[in-house]
Amino acid sequence: MQSSDKIRRKGWRIVILVGDKTILRPLSWEDVPAFLQWCRDPELQDLSNGTYPTSLAECGPWYSSLRANRQHKHFAIIARDGRFIGDIELDSISWRRGEAELRICIGDPAYRNRGLGTDAVATLVSYAFFRLHLRLVYLRVYRDNRRAIRCYEKVGFRTVGWLRRAGKLGEREIYLMALTPEDLRAPVRALAG
Ligand SMILES: CC(C)(COP(=O)(O)OP(=O)(O)OC[C@H]1O[C@@H](n2cnc3c(N)ncnc32)[C@H](O)[C@@H]1OP(=O)(O)O)[C@@H](O)C(=O)NCCC(=O)NCCS
Repeated sequence: MQSSDKIRRKGWRIVILVGDKTILRPLSWEDVPAFLQWCRDPELQDLSNGTYPTSLAECGPWYSSLRANRQHKHFAIIARDGRFIGDIELDSISWRRGEAELRICIGDPAYRNRGLGTDAVATLVSYAFFRLHLRLVYLRVYRDNRRAIRCYEKVGFRTVGWLRRAGKLGEREIYLMALTPEDLRAPVRALAG
């Protein structure tokens, strides 16, 4: 994370995080159509652990709730060419315990496997640890989602447990992965400054 700008507008603090390959900024209403398309994608629904809107009617209340929720920080992922390519969030933030759950989705398939997911995760966890002063970021990922696991491992996440979930495709294993500031890989730490 090279820099971050905070702008106060209408009483909201707008945070923009600048990584090497991505920029994280608040989701804007103009992003919603593309976002909704990804939310409706069955493959992405299957891979995600979150609860996302699937209709425009659901989007309004969901979008308003993003700013009101102190336990949640949600960002649009912007590629260096300016394209909105996905979203990333810290959810279930416990300020008392210093913990949060991370979720990410690069919705535009053309932008996967190019290091942007790793950059966005590195940027967000750097913000979580060094600006928000959280002490633990964790996530859940299907064991067979090798690309996601590799992405998280590159940042420094380690598998700390697993659980089984019954679903339409039968029983699947989910890894619980966690990261502390001490686990951050050296290049990510250097990026965080
Ligand atoms: C998971 C996700 C965030 C990763 O972001 P990304 O930009 O595609 O990933 P990166 O390019 O940063 O890193 C992917 C790594 O996995 C590797 N990889 C890709 N496919 C792989 C596979 N089938 N098996 C093992 N490794 C694989 C890549 O080679 C790369 O590692 P490398 O840099 O050592 O070569 C993104 O692909 C995504 O959002 N996918 C769809 C939704 C999803 O799975 N979300 C996560 C839910 S937990």
